Amino acid sequence: MSERGLELAQDKMRDAGVVPAAVDVFTRFYRLLEEDVSGYVREADVEPLSDLPRAADLTVGPDEAGAALARTAIIKLNGGLGTSMGMDRAKSLLTVRRTEDGEDLTFLDVIVRQVRAARAATGARLPLVLMNSFRTQDDTLAALAPYDDVAVEGLPLDFLQNREPKLAADTLEPVDWPADPTLEWCPPGHGDLYPALHAHGIVRALLDAGFRYASVSNSDNLGAAPDAEIAAWFAASGAPYAAEMCLKTPADVKGGQLVVRKADGRIIQRETAQTHPDDVEVSLDPTRHRYFHTNNLWFDLEALAAELDRTGGVLELPLIRNAKTVDPTDPASPEVVQIESAMGAAVAVFEGATAIEVGRERFLPVKTTNDLLLLRSDVYELTDAYRVVAQVPAPLVQLSKDYKTIGAFDARFPAGAPSLRRASGLAVDGDWTFGADVVVQGDAALPAPDGGAGTVPDGATVTESGIA
Ligand code: UTP
Repeated sequence: MSERGLELAQDKMRDAGVVPAAVDVFTRFYRLLEEDVSGYVREADVEPLSDLPRAADLTVGPDEAGAALARTAIIKLNGGLGTSMGMDRAKSLLTVRRTEDGEDLTFLDVIVRQVRAARAATGARLPLVLMNSFRTQDDTLAALAPYDDVAVEGLPLDFLQNREPKLAADTLEPVDWPADPTLEWCPPGHGDLYPALHAHGIVRALLDAGFRYASVSNSDNLGAAPDAEIAAWFAASGAPYAAEMCLKTPADVKGGQLVVRKADGRIIQRETAQTHPDDVEVSLDPTRHRYFHTNNLWFDLEALAAELDRTGGVLELPLIRNAKTVDPTDPASPEVVQIESAMGAAVAVFEGATAIEVGRERFLPVKTTNDLLLLRSDVYELTDAYRVVAQVPAPLVQLSKDYKTIGAFDARFPAGAPSLRRASGLAVDGDWTFGADVVVQGDAALPAPDGGAGTVPDGATVTESGIA
């Protein structure tokens, strides 16, 4: 830990032209890193969220729904690099579905078409604004170029989030990586939404163009399609901020959660790292903490503008310390610390923030290649409005570490995903390459192949006793 590390990082940011607010945010977090504050939110001091309104119970007339959507903008977080899948560029440019006409659609294609479909159905202008990072902007804008109808006049299609130096894990000084100096930098997590929105005047621009609400979600969550009924609920609530929550299943044990602080009744986010060891069990109890956070948020743009003006975009969010390697595609490269924050932690800042229970269909994130295999498979279908709809309950997919990176994964499914519609699970041990038209059935398992690598032949069926 060093004052020198902080100074070097600040200089590096200033030299690179990073805006002062982003340097201030980084400085605040760096000091928290040095102090190593745990910031526990104890269970005794909070209540679980309970009895949320349910999107499924909303009774909204079409006029009301249309009017709310007409004043809504869609913001997609697209600055992350998919490092968990060994990527260093936008996950949203991966192919996620093949249409019946054989067209390969990326996440971004589906997002754009969801927006177009909602515009066509409701007449809403529905701007789409992406938050990109230095690593995702060029590729993403190039991929959007053919969609010449997507931009709304007078509004940008995207804005650039900030960047900060990765810190060497041992010294906390900015890391040097002459082999590719761009890898010395990272985006500071999606909590950077606030300083980035502020720096680019996006909220004001949306307000000036007549919009009042923003629906914000991850570009890797195709479940978060534009939703007029939730927009109407949010508009009628008068709340400054709302989080979409899903009911937990036994598989949903990870991630932060929203809780109500007894002291002032405010909803706050409790990260895993802020959970005291003695509280872990109760925090994971799905009968007490019934919901998890989807990272789909709604903002009243007036309230957001006021908060950004008041703070200069520097919201006091909790620090997330992320351990990575300097080259995300090379696990043997030096270890670094990335200082990050989460967008949803801002819930505590907004007095009167609220939440709504939404169906699982609004939460289809792709964090791992397991998720990607499912989404590419026949478990899901795309509707005419480009909604991704599960046809059966999703089976539990557990691929071995040989499939962890996107390159390794694609090489092992050269003919696309097997049929998973009749599967309740697929556990793959070791290194198998799947042929075409493979069908997975029941609680299927593939044991590690003899001799290093194996092939699942074209047309094979995989069951609980392996290849049938
Ligand atoms: P994740 O937290 O899953 O991170 O992002 P990621 O960067 O995509 O993946 P890993 O952790 O490197 O594997 C959730 C959403 O937030 C966006 C991502 O693009 C994704 O849509 N995001 C994340 C940003 O826009 N900026 C960031 O700095 C981080």
